[in-house]
Amino acid sequence: MARILHTSDLHFGRPAVAEQLDSLKSSIVELAPDAVAVSGDLTQRCSNSEFVKARAYLDEFRETAPVIVIPGNHDVRWIGAVARNLDVWRKTAHEFKYSKYTRHISSELNPSLEIPGTPGAVIAGCNTAHGISRGSLTHRMRDLGVIGHVNQRDLRKVEEAFSRAAQDAARVVMIHHNPIRGATSGRHGLANTKQALRSFATLGTELVLCGHDHQEAVHTVEESEGGLVVSTAGTISNRLRAGRPSSFNLVEIDHRELRITTHSWRNPEGFAPSREYSFPRQSASRSA
Ligand SMILES: [Fe+2]
Ligand SMILES: [Fe+2]
Repeated sequence: MARILHTSDLHFGRPAVAEQLDSLKSSIVELAPDAVAVSGDLTQRCSNSEFVKARAYLDEFRETAPVIVIPGNHDVRWIGAVARNLDVWRKTAHEFKYSKYTRHISSELNPSLEIPGTPGAVIAGCNTAHGISRGSLTHRMRDLGVIGHVNQRDLRKVEEAFSRAAQDAARVVMIHHNPIRGATSGRHGLANTKQALRSFATLGTELVLCGHDHQEAVHTVEESEGGLVVSTAGTISNRLRAGRPSSFNLVEIDHRELRITTHSWRNPEGFAPSREYSFPRQSASRSA
C-alpha cells in the first residue's frame, strides 16, 4: 500500500498558526506516511523570511518521510511575471519570477517522487503557478496572476516521470490550482481546466492532488474510463473559507481501492479524521 500525506497552503507569514503547524508535524510522525506532498503556497508574501521558515519546517517533515513540493501563486514574484509577459528580459525574468522559491525550496518546479511497493505510486508535480502570463489571462481582472494554467512543457515533465515509474505504480499528479470549483469560493483555479484534466487522464493519471481553494473537497470527473479522482487539500493557516477548519488529506492506495481521509483541526485536540472517501482502483476494475 502507498500512503501519501497531502497538505497545502501553509502560508508562512501572518496567516500561519503555530499550534496547527505543530499538530501537523505530530500527525506526520504518528501516521508515518510513505511521502508528504505539499501543493504550494508555502508563503503569504513571497518574502525571504517566510521561505526560510517554510524550508526549516519542510526539513522537519523529511526526518519522517520524503517530501515533494511545488510552488503556489503566493510563491511567485510578480514583477518578474509582468516583465516576462511583456517580453522584457526574457530568460532573466523567468528566473527572477521563481528566484526566491528556487533559492530556498528547490530548483525543480516539476519534481517527481516514486513510492516503491506493491502497489507503489508515482507523484508528478506539475507547476501551475506562472504569475501573470498569457496562459493565465482571464476576463476577470481580480483573477490576474492568481489563476494558473497547465502548459505543454510542464506536462512533458509529468509524462517523463510516469514513463520512468514502475508499471503498476498508481499515477498521481500534484498541481497547485484547483480544477474543480470551490463549494464556497465558487471559483476554480485553472484557466484551461478541461484540457488539463483530459491531458492528465490520457497520461494514465488516477488521482490529482491540488490546493489553492483553502477548502477541502474530493470529486471524480469523467475524463477517463474509470473516472479521475480530484482531491483538494484545505489550508493549514487562518485563511479559512466560511468557518471551515484547517485540514489535510491522507491518501491510501492499495490494489483495489484509493482512499482519502480528511483530517480536520479540532481545537485543542489537534487534527483528527473527519471524513473518508473511497474509490475502486481503475486497474482493479479493468482486471475484474
Ligand atoms: Fe493559498
Ligand atoms: Fe494559491
